[in-house]
Amino acid sequence: MLETLLLSTEDADLQKAAEILKGGGLVAFPTETVYGLGADAFDPEAAKKAYAAKGRPSDNPLIVHIAKTEDLYRVAAEVPGEALRLAEAFWPGPLTMVLPKRPELPKETTGGLSTVAVRMPKSAATLKFIELCGTAVSGPSANVSGRPSPTSWLHVKNDLDGRIDAIICGDTCDGGIESTVLDLTDPAHPAILRPGLVTPEMISAVTGCEVSYDPALFKKPSEDPAFRPKAPGQKYRHYAPKAPMVLFEGDTEDIQAAIKERLRAELEAGKKVFVIDRPQPRTFFARLREADAQGADIILAAAPESGSSLGFSLENRMLKAAGYNIIRVGGGQKMKIAIACDHGGFNLKQPLVEHLQEKGYEVTDLGIYGEERVDYPEYGKKCAEYVVSGQADLGIVLCGTGIGIGIAANKVHGIRCAELVTPFMAEMAKKHNHANMVSLGGRILEPQQAIELVDIWLDTEEEHGRHDRRVALLDEM
Ligand code: RB5
Repeated sequence: MLETLLLSTEDADLQKAAEILKGGGLVAFPTETVYGLGADAFDPEAAKKAYAAKGRPSDNPLIVHIAKTEDLYRVAAEVPGEALRLAEAFWPGPLTMVLPKRPELPKETTGGLSTVAVRMPKSAATLKFIELCGTAVSGPSANVSGRPSPTSWLHVKNDLDGRIDAIICGDTCDGGIESTVLDLTDPAHPAILRPGLVTPEMISAVTGCEVSYDPALFKKPSEDPAFRPKAPGQKYRHYAPKAPMVLFEGDTEDIQAAIKERLRAELEAGKKVFVIDRPQPRTFFARLREADAQGADIILAAAPESGSSLGFSLENRMLKAAGYNIIRVGGGQKMKIAIACDHGGFNLKQPLVEHLQEKGYEVTDLGIYGEERVDYPEYGKKCAEYVVSGQADLGIVLCGTGIGIGIAANKVHGIRCAELVTPFMAEMAKKHNHANMVSLGGRILEPQQAIELVDIWLDTEEEHGRHDRRVALLDEM
């Protein structure tokens, strides 16, 4: 166990911090976004130590911090004009740019990638500290991996006391969420890998070219071991409070009504509830830590109003904090799901119905309603016809193995019914096959497993391009 020094932002302390870092140590530093965990960006051992202190898997790239725009050339092998213009407009500030890396920068710092993510933070003390270090400083957020990001030095101390060498105790971060990460490896087509306080509109206004969001932002973070994240936050669950969090999406009024109703129910059940009804980027992570400190059993949070890029950036953090536990509220546009089973799948039906209703879907239960023995083809057909007639948007059928009732559903023209057994199948069923129905086996899966698979299927987006053609071929058969 290390003794973690608490340092001030006075010159003598910054000098001490720089010496610790140059000696291979870890020093947490303030920025305008969140506190960073600093290590010498050119020292692979220091990067490994930072990963170990955070408990973070080592294939996540670290953001490299510099104190002068010229230092871009020390870490990036190519610096396009766009990068210089953006640096001039937004640095020091919450914009990180991803550029091809210089060979001297070790793979431990860049998560094994051939690119570097670099920014100049806005904190006079930190800029001075980096300058005194005389090197670029890599810095993931200074928290235990997976916990809410630290926006004050006390948050850092709570998470990392005894695991790092020092903390520069500066101001509370006024940005509150991490920097925007912009992929500039193809400068004509910049893409946002992590949304933040610098929005696509602000970037376009400087570069004159359109800025896209990386498609990965619209999906749950991948747990696939083969997936290489291009920016921090793309792969692992992030920002999570201790208590489970439920995110309510919809119109403001509907959200407030739904939170009120759920709050009453939770309080009646004797639960300690923490409500975030007007989320703000600046305070969001601090509120999650407040919920933890109060020992909340559940956090009920309103999603930010849709339509603004800043709202999108905040919602990105909220979705991860909630582990994608979303309830869509609001009348009129609920998605309709039909469900049916035979006796072999009966055990899965009620838990699924309740879960889907809780998530805000309109569910039609087409039977069976007791444990009587019935023929699965009849219920597969019934549910499939309900879907193709447009009375439901999607269908779920359940039998002992999931096989027979799925075969029956697929006999109905226009149905693409996929059996869900693993998370990968659930994802691909939607992505590649555009499955409008799924089948599951009550003798294969526990209800909770079935719920998780159905959630993946529902929350995954269809992929288009070549898949549209193949799906059209299916529909012609
Ligand atoms: C019923 O015993 C069982 O055959 C049925 O639920 C299903 O597994 C059919 O595929």
